[in-house]
Amino acid sequence: MIFTVAIDGPAAAGKGTISRAVAKEFNLAHLDTGLLYRAVGAGVIAGGEALAVAKALDPRDLENPDLRTQAVADAASQVAVIPEVRAALVQFQKDFARREGGAVLDGRDIGTVICPSAEVKLYVTASARTRAGRRHKELTEKGFSTAFETVLAEVEDRDRRDSSRATAPLMAASDALTIDTSDLSIADAVAVAVKAVAAKYPVT
Ligand code: CDP
Repeated sequence: MIFTVAIDGPAAAGKGTISRAVAKEFNLAHLDTGLLYRAVGAGVIAGGEALAVAKALDPRDLENPDLRTQAVADAASQVAVIPEVRAALVQFQKDFARREGGAVLDGRDIGTVICPSAEVKLYVTASARTRAGRRHKELTEKGFSTAFETVLAEVEDRDRRDSSRATAPLMAASDALTIDTSDLSIADAVAVAVKAVAAKYPVT
């Protein structure tokens, strides 16, 4: 069975939580494509050259917990504007999307560029303040002391960079279902997504 769920949206909108829940519910493989860009960003911070790092990426590199920091997120969105870097990461994502058994991919350009034929496309979003609040809470819980305003500025900066780049900018596919999670609980947001996937899920 080939079945792809594409989930796009800006930083900290809830894509990760929704993707993991959908993958679990329907027993699909899951790829957080942000980790690919984060791994390249981390390689650049470590002194590497972006394209060389992207070409040499190994799936095991994605398991590094250090990829979750703000500095790496920022570096990720900087390397993500480089068309050659994006091109180097395309085939891995396309293959993952069409793997046997079905897959959920979350990112910025899954429904638009990586898998325009995805059976289900969701665009998960929320206001910048809501998203910065969530990210701030996450960081505080992990023991990082960052001011809310700093996190908000970082989120807005990244939104701007992701939406305005020439190659594969962040945007909803014309046939995507938009889920605004600003006023939704996690359970409610997941329920909306699961319902949308269930409506397209192949009956066996
Ligand atoms: O978790 P969060 O939404 O903060 O970030 P992420 O999904 O891990 O993505 C980090 C950065 O990678 C984003 O700001 C984008 O610039 C880039 N990215 C991208 O360009 N295309 C994707 N499919 C996924 C991420």
